Amino acid sequence: MTDSITVPVLDLKAQYQTIKPEIERAVAEVLESQYFIMGPTLKALEDEIAEYCHTKYAVGCASGTDAILLALMALGIGAGDEVICPSYTFFATAGCIHRLGAIPVFADIDPVTYNMDLKSVHKAAKRCKKLKAIMPVHLFGQAVDMTEYLELREDLCVPVIEDAAQAIGTLDKDGERAGSRSSIGCFSFYPSKNLGAYGDGGICTTSDETFAERLSILRVHGSKPKYYHSIVGLNSRLDALQAAILRVKLKYLDQWTQGRQSNAARYDQLFSDAGAKDSSSPLSDGGFPLRTPATPDAPARHIYNQYVIRVPEDIRDGLRDELKNKNVGTEIYYPLPLHEQKCFAYLGYSPGDLPQSEQAARQTLALPVYPELTEEQIQHVANTVVSFVNAQAAVKV
Ligand SMILES: Cc1ncc(COP(=O)(O)O)c(C=O)c1O
Repeated sequence: MTDSITVPVLDLKAQYQTIKPEIERAVAEVLESQYFIMGPTLKALEDEIAEYCHTKYAVGCASGTDAILLALMALGIGAGDEVICPSYTFFATAGCIHRLGAIPVFADIDPVTYNMDLKSVHKAAKRCKKLKAIMPVHLFGQAVDMTEYLELREDLCVPVIEDAAQAIGTLDKDGERAGSRSSIGCFSFYPSKNLGAYGDGGICTTSDETFAERLSILRVHGSKPKYYHSIVGLNSRLDALQAAILRVKLKYLDQWTQGRQSNAARYDQLFSDAGAKDSSSPLSDGGFPLRTPATPDAPARHIYNQYVIRVPEDIRDGLRDELKNKNVGTEIYYPLPLHEQKCFAYLGYSPGDLPQSEQAARQTLALPVYPELTEEQIQHVANTVVSFVNAQAAVKV
């Protein structure tokens, strides 16, 4: 019976059905206005995002990638400068550093949270000759400890930029919003994000007026006033149609996040009933060979942009195939850490240099966690995972 259940990794159509009339109205208003680039709808969204993220300013742009690029440019990062970032993240984090002629310096992750490990950042900083910034990533929707990063900023005298692409509404361990405590926070509105546009989009948050001004000039070719360029920027704007759609969706964001959190809690329960522990206990501790994401204590808030489990590497791909056979979509974030990517071979890293990143890349699997999942779908996913892991464990005995 359960074989007839289908669980895509993400179901955007299900969400769209719940807000369709509002979206259609918002889109129609933009079409009537024929005001597509910059303008009042974008400004309204920027004000709402700044308020939501507890910053003074927000500056929309064309993607999360461009948000990072613009942030680095606003800080004056350029050729030969070094920026520390994690290796276990989406490519854009380091790709943007490279595109500016700067050098990504990779740090390893903490195996419990999958976020950049501060000890590894210290080590990386010691290797640097021209360190200009540190860019932690709030991976999967869980925050790094920002207080520690801000202390590090004082020690090393370099700014911090947050790659908060996956973390809108995330709270850190002090209860503060992702993107609110560093020089600039960078968010993505890629459709799979908790707040996703109907196309590409991104935004930078900051409470520094100078950075806000620089970001808004940089996104329009560095022009101010129009057609006068004291710096060279990009064409990177968030268009009014996307802004109008995002304004509708923002009203539902907290409700959707709660849906993700309760789905994550349900998986946690079902896996724990089968004997799984959370990721604070390494797989080498034994027991049922599955680790759920460790949930941070309040006031921290994990927004579960992804729900990522860990299993032994010799069964991970088989588990993924089995889930596919049972009509369950999954994703591997990320199969190859950035320090092992061909395009970064010139940086001279070798396998084994960042062992936690390498191990996570071999052991993790993201399960569907979108808010519209039904109890039946969650049980189907969890049952398929537990049966497969049990069967594999039995073969080994
Ligand atoms: C951690 C991280 N950084 C940056 C980005 C880039 O965002 P975008 O796809 O909107 O360019 C993403 C998006 O997937 C991401 O997950």
